[in-house]
Amino acid sequence: MCGIIGYTGPLMARDVILQGLHQLEYRGYDSAGMALLTEDGGMYLRKKVGQVSALEAVCEPDIPAHCGIGHTRWATHGGVTDANAHPHAVGKVVLLYNGIIENYHTISRQFGFEGLATSETDTEVAAQLINYYYGQTGNPYEAIRRSIEIIEGSYAFCILFTDIPGTIYAIRNVSPLVAASSEQGSFIASDVTALISYTKEYFVVPEQHILTITQDQIRMETLDGTVVKPEMLEVTWDVEAAQKGGYPHFMLKEIYEQPEVFQKTIMPRLVEGLPNFEVDGVPDPLFQRCHSIQVIACGTAMYAGMVGRAIMEKQLRIPVSVSIASEFRYDTPLLDPGTLVIVVSQSGETIDTLAALRLAKECGCPVLSIVNVKGSTIARESDYVLYTHAGPEIAVASTKAYMVQLAVFYLITARMMLVRGAAEEAQVKDFIASLAKAPEWIQDALGQGDAIRKQAEKMAFSRDAFFIGRGMDYAFSLEGALKLKEISYIHAEAYAAGELKHGTIALIEPGVPVIALATQDHIFNKTISNIREVKARGAYVILITKKGVPVSSEVCDVHLEIPVEDDRFTVFPCAVLLQLLAYYTAYAKGYDMDKPRNLAKSVTVE
Ligand code: G6P
Repeated sequence: MCGIIGYTGPLMARDVILQGLHQLEYRGYDSAGMALLTEDGGMYLRKKVGQVSALEAVCEPDIPAHCGIGHTRWATHGGVTDANAHPHAVGKVVLLYNGIIENYHTISRQFGFEGLATSETDTEVAAQLINYYYGQTGNPYEAIRRSIEIIEGSYAFCILFTDIPGTIYAIRNVSPLVAASSEQGSFIASDVTALISYTKEYFVVPEQHILTITQDQIRMETLDGTVVKPEMLEVTWDVEAAQKGGYPHFMLKEIYEQPEVFQKTIMPRLVEGLPNFEVDGVPDPLFQRCHSIQVIACGTAMYAGMVGRAIMEKQLRIPVSVSIASEFRYDTPLLDPGTLVIVVSQSGETIDTLAALRLAKECGCPVLSIVNVKGSTIARESDYVLYTHAGPEIAVASTKAYMVQLAVFYLITARMMLVRGAAEEAQVKDFIASLAKAPEWIQDALGQGDAIRKQAEKMAFSRDAFFIGRGMDYAFSLEGALKLKEISYIHAEAYAAGELKHGTIALIEPGVPVIALATQDHIFNKTISNIREVKARGAYVILITKKGVPVSSEVCDVHLEIPVEDDRFTVFPCAVLLQLLAYYTAYAKGYDMDKPRNLAKSVTVE
């Protein structure tokens, strides 16, 4: 949420910042801005409502500046206007940030900043405060330190002082920041996608450390002035991974990457046909000692958890609950150290998920996280991490990250079957052998793109759509409905097929698309009866079943098949069919599915 980039070095700062903002645009795209410290000692500030291209259009070329900061915004406090866009300049301070200052009203009143504001943002109050202390102390480090003592909330700040050329200051609390220094200068950004063209070595900025960033070095100090050496990390993917590679959209590229990232995620964890987490340092007693499992996540990651619950309860016969992180964190959870908490997050920085993780730790629970971004806050604060190897996911609507989160849930299930004695070794090997076939099934589903596209064109202008299924099919439907609504803006609901008649069936009228999943043998006939109920009311039914299952032509308008025999593994191709349906529907409507309205990729505010 909100993208930040800062640069100081020999290159032209304008170009580095605009390029970085384009890479970070998926984090927020309602307005963008940049501030540069120019060679003649001046300050160049431009802010513009709209995407980064709108900012680019108002920035003159060849601005003689080698130090600056840039921002792409996802509005929280204050509407989408040029004035509210970042950076904010007050006196000698120019800053931008990501986060929420919870006590900005109090600060404003206490320091008499009311009436001085030129925007409606909480950010400007931070600029006023730092400028106030800079005026008092004449020392940038002191001005930041004193302000941070007062500011409450989550934040990642990048700060320029107009009388200190070539230097960027930065500090964060919760909201993410990474930094790197190379021959091409020094960089700071919300995530590594903005740095990867310049360097593969970077570090995650620790919380509550002040960074002083100059052309050839980054100095990092704690708030009591102790200099700390950063812990360097290396990016394991190439710059091409964060580009479209010939696809019209990141989302489509990421859908097509799924067979490959699935392999990358499971193969390093298979030893002689059995799951093994030795490389990840996840010990077996973690799985043996627990009496229940609590999964916590948001959005798509939470829906991956719903499938995780279905497969774990089926195979392990232990209770598994799934909680929405933003609810869980304000609950009084019934957890004890015998509950294994599994936290799921692509970005590793979703603030509600992080807060829920902290609460689970306070309850004494061991925390295992499933995370895609290396070194992210959630990964670092968990007791154990199983990284998914999806590479950078740029499209706001998650696809490949969901797929590999599922893969990890299936691996955990298999390891737990083995070490808890819930199955014979041979049965676990069979389970894994089936799992390893998922890339083929995903490939088969990708091959059905044209058929799905035709259906998507038909339903593109529907007002509503319903996704129905029972059992595991219901868990997949939830993600299918979320995908459709987030990028095509069609109101989409997932319903347990048997529950439909208790209210929602009132919304079924002639022509309404119903996407029905019936991939589970033991409830197949029950689901078909429910489908008949909507069909009888005129619904346009797209039915997904396993291959070779006899389906009467009166039941559906379109029949899609997946090549899986074992009910436990049908989610993998189903997920792809539903992703493609959402993608092509948004495509038919001419929407930019990589940047859907009002959404942001990683949500670092509550
Ligand atoms: C946002 C994104 C979703 C994502 C959710 C959780 O809402 O738009 O795609 O599923 O956050 O994000 P996380 O990074 O924690 O998986």
